[in-house]
Amino acid sequence: MNIILLGAPGSGKGTVAEALKKSFELTHISTGDIFRANIANETELGRKAKSYIDRGDLVPDDITVDMVKERLSHQDCSSGFMLDGFPRTITQADALESILCSRGQSVDAVINLQVSDAVIIRRISARRVCKSCGATYSQTFNPPQQDGKCDVCGGEIVQRADDMPETVLSRLETYAQKTQPLVDYYAARAILINVDNESGLDLAMRQIQDQFAQRGLISSQ
Ligand code: AP5
Ligand code: MG
Repeated sequence: MNIILLGAPGSGKGTVAEALKKSFELTHISTGDIFRANIANETELGRKAKSYIDRGDLVPDDITVDMVKERLSHQDCSSGFMLDGFPRTITQADALESILCSRGQSVDAVINLQVSDAVIIRRISARRVCKSCGATYSQTFNPPQQDGKCDVCGGEIVQRADDMPETVLSRLETYAQKTQPLVDYYAARAILINVDNESGLDLAMRQIQDQFAQRGLISSQ
């Protein structure tokens, strides 16, 4: 099964991807995580991406598409993947379609996570991440067991550089302008699944399972 996780910044794409991994063997590809790893490792790609990310803008399509195309060619994607944060523009969506088409593949479902801007702003200001492995926490929703220390690898817990209030507003604006049109794009292809992630993760996961079952992507229990 090949899935796209669509949704505004802080709508829970990474959190839902982690939850889905418990039920499905799907490779999780977060373009944001790949960019952040490249920035931390001071690569050429990281250098190019940093200024866009720091101001809450999108990294140019050609850079992002090449990066995803390369990642999708890895063996671990052949039995299914979850794209988190890609595509974010119509250009990227068209490019993805042609990459997959050339390999005889397609997208089975696009999970559109719906959360109001007010809740997003609250959640992002409470979000903390591990500096070493990128694991995500929330000061209110799922804090690490030991203050300031990652449960997974023991790394230092920090606030993401682009989670400062001014950058969050700019990311929300970028989403509304450039990414929101993908909702109609995928609705027209009848693969869009709208999921309410405002009321709690368990409820969101139940909606996803129900929709997968209704669409014959998993057997209904
Ligand atoms: P990226 O890393 O993808 O950031 P984003 O889209 O802004 O999304 P986030 O990672 O901030 O949020 P999320 O939806 O994963 O939510 P999370 O699960 O953490 O991209 C960063 C930047 O890279 C972009 O701004 C852009 O510059 C660049 N970039 C990336 N992809 C690109 C592309 N394709 N093209 C061009 N540029 C690109 O959840 C948020 C918080 O809420 C967490 O603390 C979590 O614990 C909590 N939470 C989640 N669900 C719930 C719940 N149900 N109840 C309570 N709390 C919850
Ligand atoms: Mg994320």
